Amino acid sequence: MQTRAASLIPIVMQGRIFFEEHMDGNLIRGLHHITLCTATAQGDVDFFVKVMGQRFIKQTLFYDGRIPIYHLYFSDADGTPGTVMTTFPMRRTKLVGRKGSGQFTAIAYSVPAGSLEFWRDHFGRHGIRIEEESQRFGERYLRVVHAGIDFEVVEDAGDTRKPWRSEYVPERHAVRGFHNWTATVRELDDMDIFMRDAWHFRPTMHDGKFTRYEAGEGGAGRRIDILHAPDLRQGMWTLAEGIVHHGAFDVPDYDTQSRIKFEAEGMGFTDFSDRKNRGYFESVYVRTPGGVMFEATKSLGFKMDEEEERLGAELKISPQFDVDHAQLRKQMQVEDPIHV
Ligand SMILES: [Fe+2]
Repeated sequence: MQTRAASLIPIVMQGRIFFEEHMDGNLIRGLHHITLCTATAQGDVDFFVKVMGQRFIKQTLFYDGRIPIYHLYFSDADGTPGTVMTTFPMRRTKLVGRKGSGQFTAIAYSVPAGSLEFWRDHFGRHGIRIEEESQRFGERYLRVVHAGIDFEVVEDAGDTRKPWRSEYVPERHAVRGFHNWTATVRELDDMDIFMRDAWHFRPTMHDGKFTRYEAGEGGAGRRIDILHAPDLRQGMWTLAEGIVHHGAFDVPDYDTQSRIKFEAEGMGFTDFSDRKNRGYFESVYVRTPGGVMFEATKSLGFKMDEEEERLGAELKISPQFDVDHAQLRKQMQVEDPIHV
């Protein structure tokens, strides 16, 4: 049996602080996936596979609602939590989003130290403009835009995760997974309480209007940066092109997921969903006090319905569509074609 160290988690109740013992590992471990509302399916395949060098690991549909919307997944070789980019291409619905506060507003990938020169040239070869080149928290990054959403590549010498062996990006420069996501909020105080006491992340650094929160040992894939923007209008929550819909965090098991929800509800954060089966993971969603949608996710894996070498090859129809699967696949291919 695996031995794990215990840690004490402060619980504030009626002005008094109690310490509750948690076994390390029975908390949110870090980032799992982030879900964007993009433009077209082909645009996403071209950007995430051919530019960012991720694996196209699964194509399915949004598991909610009556309108079939692609849900595309890009990750490392195995769909490891902390590497999984997911998209809803929305152009064919004609719904256009409004960016603002209460949203994740940037997604940063981690790349090896000394890689930014490669990435500057690589983006240039694909006709993608560098919008900004700067430093935050002492780390160098480049910023580009895809489908109206900000992406960064950040140099991180300490990230030892194994990259997907892409035919488009040399392994020595390849993305290792997410470095961080930026969440933008109007009110910092309530979000700080949520991050510390409900989500068990701790603030570790400040840089201007950014505060970095980390889980566990911290580091790439275990952190988000919160940007305080008190004058920024609330962004759109509905699915619509050009915004990030939500970010999902990785939980080790159902007990942890249930306990995080139970304890956060006990603090008054009652805007939680029930557990929802998403085919490849099971999720609870919560609207945080900063307005940003978080999810706590238990992985089920991506190999349950496709062999390793066939991952991502066929559109998997989500369970609410009780129709002819071949016909729906054909309809999606006509309305929003994908050629890998
Ligand atoms: Fe999700």
